[in-house]
Amino acid sequence: MKLTLRKPDDFHLHLREGDRMAAVVQDSARWCRRALIMPNLKEPVRSTQAALDYRDEILAALPQGGFEPLMSLYLTDRTTPAEISQAKASGAVVAAKLYPQGATTNSDLGVSHIEGLYPVLEALEKTGMVLCIHGEVTAPEVDIFDREAVFLDQVLDPLVRQFPGLKVVLEHVTTAEGVAFVEAGGPNLAGTLTAHHLLINRNDLLVGGIKPHHYCLPVAKREKHRKALLKAATSGSPKFFLGSDSAPHPQSAKECASGCAGVYTGYALLPYYAAAFESAGALEALEDFASRFGAEFYGLPLNEESLTLVREPYLIPNSLEYGSDALIPFWAGQQVAWKLQ
Ligand code: NCD
Ligand code: ZN
Repeated sequence: MKLTLRKPDDFHLHLREGDRMAAVVQDSARWCRRALIMPNLKEPVRSTQAALDYRDEILAALPQGGFEPLMSLYLTDRTTPAEISQAKASGAVVAAKLYPQGATTNSDLGVSHIEGLYPVLEALEKTGMVLCIHGEVTAPEVDIFDREAVFLDQVLDPLVRQFPGLKVVLEHVTTAEGVAFVEAGGPNLAGTLTAHHLLINRNDLLVGGIKPHHYCLPVAKREKHRKALLKAATSGSPKFFLGSDSAPHPQSAKECASGCAGVYTGYALLPYYAAAFESAGALEALEDFASRFGAEFYGLPLNEESLTLVREPYLIPNSLEYGSDALIPFWAGQQVAWKLQ
């Protein structure tokens, strides 16, 4: 069996920088024509110039071309509306990323008080740039499994009411509440869904020994939530599209006493998504989810290229090279049912 689709776009991708970026960018270029590159580097991408430099670095690592990095700007308490105008004018930056301070990897410089950011959000609304949100509150009294649902009530609901013309993406939705919130919103509100959150629940993280390579933020939730995500992904609703949140970390930083958050799905991105869609009997819904709805939301032309998957067993390697360390891909050592033709 074969499945040919328009070449996908990944609207949430962590590539990192330097050697480590060069080690993974080929994987994304294999599966995707374009990707929205996350700005949470050690030195976050806070200015248009930094975004353009980072873009050049990525392009230089792909001499054969065929992959377009769409850049995002990391919002801080000090981002100005003028920076947003400049980002828009560059033509290379399509989104701004809101990390609540302390929510995830390299978010220390994230936003502490969202209200303080309102002039910047006004500028985004005016320019038509997209606001991508890591939707979790960080208050220590909120249980980690509730952080997304609480964010919807406390932060996102007031925000979308205040800025009805702002295009907002709730990134890596992990809960039934998140799905319902996106569905109930207007056409300016959408959500991305990762492959891993469509495939694993919190038992896969914690039962039979802790599985550091299933640990990411937002953390995987109960099975009923995974089912809600899968239903949303396969529903044909243009409000949900592909954002892998592929987030490589060296093996040594994952397999240790305080392992960091992030799952590396870039290696076999489409086979993972195909497995999820097939499990729901909805392979025919994969193309729009992967290759149409995101581009339409961002106002980008659809890709002309295509990609063919064949239904043949494909063994995910145990380990990949990653600079001086190793990188463990999602489902390492396991077989998936689909591979690239
Ligand atoms: C991401 C990373 O490592 O940069 N980690 C993750 O668990 N998803 C950051 C993020 O998107 O939260
Ligand atoms: Zn991410």
